[in-house]
Amino acid sequence: MDNWAALRACKQASATRRITDLFDDPARAAEFLVTLSDAATGPVHFDYSKTNIDAETRAALIELAEASGLESRRNAMFSGEKINVTEGRAVLHTALRNLDGSLEVEGEDVMPEVRATLARMESFARDLRDGRIRGAGGRITDVVNIGIGGSDLGPAMAAIALAPFHDGPRCHFVSNVDGAHIHDVLDGIDPETTLVIVASKTFTTVETMTNAETARAWMARTVRDPARQFVALSTAQDKTTAFGIDPARVFGFEDWVGGRYSMWGPIGLSLMIAIGPMNFHAFLKGASVMDQHFLTADFAQNMPVMLALVGVWHRQVLGHPTRAVLPYDQRLARLPAYLQQLEMESNGKRVAMDGKELEIPSGPVVFGEPGTNGQHAFYQLIHQGTDIVPCEFLLAAKSHEPALAHHHRLLAANCLAQAEALMTGRSLDEAKALMKAKGFKGAELLMQAKHRVFPGNRPSTTLVYPQLTPAMLGAIVALYEHRVFVEGVVLGINSFDQWGVELGKELAVQLLPMVEGTKPAEGRDGSTQALISALRDMGI
Ligand code: F6P
Repeated sequence: MDNWAALRACKQASATRRITDLFDDPARAAEFLVTLSDAATGPVHFDYSKTNIDAETRAALIELAEASGLESRRNAMFSGEKINVTEGRAVLHTALRNLDGSLEVEGEDVMPEVRATLARMESFARDLRDGRIRGAGGRITDVVNIGIGGSDLGPAMAAIALAPFHDGPRCHFVSNVDGAHIHDVLDGIDPETTLVIVASKTFTTVETMTNAETARAWMARTVRDPARQFVALSTAQDKTTAFGIDPARVFGFEDWVGGRYSMWGPIGLSLMIAIGPMNFHAFLKGASVMDQHFLTADFAQNMPVMLALVGVWHRQVLGHPTRAVLPYDQRLARLPAYLQQLEMESNGKRVAMDGKELEIPSGPVVFGEPGTNGQHAFYQLIHQGTDIVPCEFLLAAKSHEPALAHHHRLLAANCLAQAEALMTGRSLDEAKALMKAKGFKGAELLMQAKHRVFPGNRPSTTLVYPQLTPAMLGAIVALYEHRVFVEGVVLGINSFDQWGVELGKELAVQLLPMVEGTKPAEGRDGSTQALISALRDMGI
């Protein structure tokens, strides 16, 4: 029996049991838990006991990972082999946080350059934070990071996550080409004390370049030499120079750092400016702790491997099309958006490495909101809808507001309550008893009770950690990066390209003159022609 057939047999067996039955084994909570403990991060626990995975299923999932060649693929990634075959590139974001190591790519040790760039970033961040780098109007008060996708989501997410550590200038993030975004950000700040960071690996992304030009024009209204208040983060120094940015203000990186994996290097400059180089180092250290764990722990005790295999069980074996990421940590509000790019741009693919169509589903739709807000929005569907949505809860033991510890305990109780409610549900008999106590009778009692039934048996995992610190955030992000990698290996796909974003970009270039009215909207489909015509009639 092949690995997938074995898992299909596990699926069949699981259909007749409830997750709660698995807790007849008093050791379950301890045995379906992975713990990582390190001085930098403190203990992190990943609990997957509230899933319908039993010991046999776990063994089958681990065998699948082994048979996919996970160990050799993992080693190939860390050692700089060109595993991104469709772009002919190595995948080495891990090198950006393995600062004590050496690593040869095509016969050259890349680490001295990584360390030198980090040292330049640190010295720049320090000079800016200490007021030695100044704007036309004096000390820099505001930093605007202009970028999109991987050049925005990581630092934007982390800047919110690490707000308690933020002691540098205010940081703003502009990504959307919608002029409303840049307008609203620039509206409240002073060009004479603002630093603009243009973050773009390629330095060709139309949204970013359009916003960068708008920011330069805005600054040029009052600042004689705006280039002095611009920084570029890019692999394309020819293009940054053509834009007019002083090479001394360009922080480069190599093409083996993928966009959505790039916040550990120059793309993280805005974060470093916000929280300071020491905290940024702690962030890198936390990620490197997770890297070492991923590299060395047995699969059954390996957090990224088990998180990925739980994902494979839910998506590829059981067929659940979505996954919800639910941080009970308000400052992780942008984590779901960050993970949407990381997971869906990486594993939303229907063709395997060998060019064959996948015979199993690709990665799931990822969505989420912080708890408890999500509870008052979409949890209704998660508890009582017809689809099963595997949920991933994240919860810290401690907040950063000791005076509000009672808020935090209420938050934690809510998180645990949701996971419990999903698993245990409420039976018809229990619902009937509730309705009876409220005075309902007969057919009305039954009808009312039916609406109050929770099917339960809905899976969730919970990640518990001491506190959201820079090191912990680094470890959490690296955990998800490696999870995506493992899932990609199991699927046999290349998680590091993103050809699916290209067609829309090309068509936008073709449609622009038609929207502008300089070219007739001929040869397009009827709907697009009609919509262009309606927009033009409305004065676009
Ligand atoms: O359109 C997708 C994408 O290529 C992402 O993968 C990337 O993070 C983003 O655009 C931004 O690209 P760049 O950093 O080159 O501007």
